[in-house]
Amino acid sequence: MRAPSHPDSWSRAEGGRRVSPSAERNIDPIGAVLARVLPARGRVLELASGSGQHIAAYARRWPGLVWQPSDANPENLASITAWGAGLDNLCPPLVLDACAPGWGVVQGGQDAICLNNLLHLIAAPEAEVLLAEVAHALAPGGVFCLYGPFRRDGRLVTEGDVAFDARLKASDPGIGYKEIGWVAAQLAAAGLEPVERVEMPAGNLMLVARRPAAG
Ligand SMILES: C[S@@+](CC[C@H](N)C(=O)[O-])C[C@H]1O[C@@H](n2cnc3c(N)ncnc32)[C@H](O)[C@@H]1O
Repeated sequence: MRAPSHPDSWSRAEGGRRVSPSAERNIDPIGAVLARVLPARGRVLELASGSGQHIAAYARRWPGLVWQPSDANPENLASITAWGAGLDNLCPPLVLDACAPGWGVVQGGQDAICLNNLLHLIAAPEAEVLLAEVAHALAPGGVFCLYGPFRRDGRLVTEGDVAFDARLKASDPGIGYKEIGWVAAQLAAAGLEPVERVEMPAGNLMLVARRPAAG
């Protein structure tokens, strides 16, 4: 597994709760897409939960769903737990390396899986494994909601994207922004059907894909 933490993400901590300003900003835009695609009841797994801000906000907003946070970095679990205090529909966080083959069977039967801001931090072969495992973990009819920055036809959207992608590649030439068409092709190869591709603030994208109901 690649070094899991992303030290620039946290700007402050409030008690045990780490605060990521970008997560604060994008909770509502991501939530607007989730509102269209989440089922009323069922199980939702979040990969790479980070601080725990997203999943705590969504568990509060959708009490009919049972939310399972996870992250590869055990150091994030305390913050996730702190954000989730008092939420009966938020499970204790799991240590889960989303790039490790096999987790999709162990975590099978998910009605939805959410992933925000990880694919650009891992290498393409790791992303391939992750996307295939997502398909294994989804129940028939289950949805995958993928948010983050991407390349579009080779291009990066903002100057900030160009600088960040260059920084990532300088730290590890194998990582960096993934081409959105490549990601869509991986999802299709894993048997998932496209549902939505949504333009998000700050040049980000959200892809929603579904495991066929009969698949
Ligand atoms: C940029 S942060 C995003 C956190 C959160 N999803 C958000 O959008 O605010 C990336 C997160 O991915 C986690 N991570 C890195 N590699 C991972 C892996 N292989 N499996 C699961 N989580 C991983 C890191 O520990 C970190 O919490």
